[in-house]
Amino acid sequence: MKKKFYVTTPIYYPNDKLHIGHAYTTTLADYISRYKKMQGYETMFVTGSDEHGQKIQDKAKEKNQDPLKFVTNIINEFKNLWDKLGIDNDVFIRTTDKIHMDYVKKSFTELSEKGFIYKSKYEGMYCKTDESFYTETQLNDGKCPDCGKVVSKISEESYFLKISDFKEWIKEKLLNNNLLIPSYRVSELVNNFINELKDLSITRTSFDWGIKINEDNLHVIYVWLDALQNYITALLYPNSKFTIDEVWSKDSKVELLQLVGKEITRFHCIYWPVILKMKNYREPKVLAHGWLVTDSGEKMSKSKGNVIDPIKLIETYGRDALRFYLINNIITGEDGKFSNELIEGMINGLLVNKYSNLVARTDAMVNKYFEGIVPSKKVDLKEYREMKIDLNKIKKQYITYMDNYEFSNSTKELVKYVEEINGFIDKTEPWKKEGDELETILNHLVNEIYNISTMISPILIDSYKKVYVWLGEKEIPSFKNLDKDFAKTKLSKVEHLFSRI
Ligand code: MSP
Repeated sequence: MKKKFYVTTPIYYPNDKLHIGHAYTTTLADYISRYKKMQGYETMFVTGSDEHGQKIQDKAKEKNQDPLKFVTNIINEFKNLWDKLGIDNDVFIRTTDKIHMDYVKKSFTELSEKGFIYKSKYEGMYCKTDESFYTETQLNDGKCPDCGKVVSKISEESYFLKISDFKEWIKEKLLNNNLLIPSYRVSELVNNFINELKDLSITRTSFDWGIKINEDNLHVIYVWLDALQNYITALLYPNSKFTIDEVWSKDSKVELLQLVGKEITRFHCIYWPVILKMKNYREPKVLAHGWLVTDSGEKMSKSKGNVIDPIKLIETYGRDALRFYLINNIITGEDGKFSNELIEGMINGLLVNKYSNLVARTDAMVNKYFEGIVPSKKVDLKEYREMKIDLNKIKKQYITYMDNYEFSNSTKELVKYVEEINGFIDKTEPWKKEGDELETILNHLVNEIYNISTMISPILIDSYKKVYVWLGEKEIPSFKNLDKDFAKTKLSKVEHLFSRI
């Protein structure tokens, strides 16, 4: 039976267009999903939109629009962006879809009946931008610790989820169960949130753009209980490949990865595991990544007005270059800079000089000396031997990085590989060679380009295809098919891969 892999991104708020930070999370998810497919997994990849809440209701009102109509327009832009970026998700879940809403209502009843929900009064400091409550001690100079905006004191009747009953349980899970990677974020959570863990307010009466509970028609479900359950309800959609039980039951064999930005780790590594536990399901596995920051180190966010539109970047640089920058240049887990200069430097220095040129030079030589037909390996070349290219070792190292979700290290391994092959050209100077030696050099080059392009295919989704067309390769990329010999293949015309900026 095929191994199974379930990967999710947060569902994004449709209060505005998405920016490069959102594109980052989704690109990482797409990368791991395509990689797992190459490893022979059956994968399911979910992304979507988190459409309820006061912030959205207010924004729609500002525009004089019905909230559903307002968000639907924005969601079409989300889908357009994912399409342009080559995001291959199976389900796009909207929290306003009936499938999701029905489940969340039922879930409220189920959790009430199990005794996990009670009604009381909430008094606290609320940040409208982040839709979350903070205790006085969590505030920064009286302002929201996440976005820095002014918070307001709120007092209203609310239903609560008994999170605090699970304080010791979640602490133990966080400390011992590898629930969150990178692990250095665990102590942050334990120190800042677990010790003060309170029950979670899960309904509101102050706005009505939300899922109404069956039990009390004044209350709508507050966003996080609504939103987090998308990771369950996505499995009820017609396009779902797996069932809820398959993914979430305690004895599930499905591998799981939930990508989130570091600022929402708290919700995914405290509240979410507890909600799952209340339902008698397994724990999640969360990878928290850092932020994309400007050159001066400031977080990119809509509220700061310093965001970059990914659609424009795709139009300027192409999606392969953008995907590669996000995965390779931002150390997974840490904050990383993004600017036009930085991506242009990466494109010229790496994608053009090292990869695209390697293909172009090899193509030119095979055409010039052998009329476009890949020659055979004739001799055992000293220069090749000395490089000690060990494909199995490279593959193993690459796979280890990927299986540990060290995405930026995985590409470094491939960059090293490309550099070695370029070094091989410099050392052998094929244009000065002839006969068996020349044939052997060019044969090696074509075969290595195939290996590199295959391993990089989950990121460079258009470029690898151009290389495959050039080689007449019809198979879909797979680790099983590496190390082929293209001797005697008639090369097609190669489409240009990357241009110097
Ligand atoms: N709707 C909630 C998530 C609910 S999930 C059950 C939400 N939405 S959001 O639209 O604000 O998007 C949050 C995600 O966007 C974060 O996980 C983070 O990945 C990403 N980013 C937003 N700005 C970012 C950067 N500047 N850099 C990297 N990612 C950031 O929170």
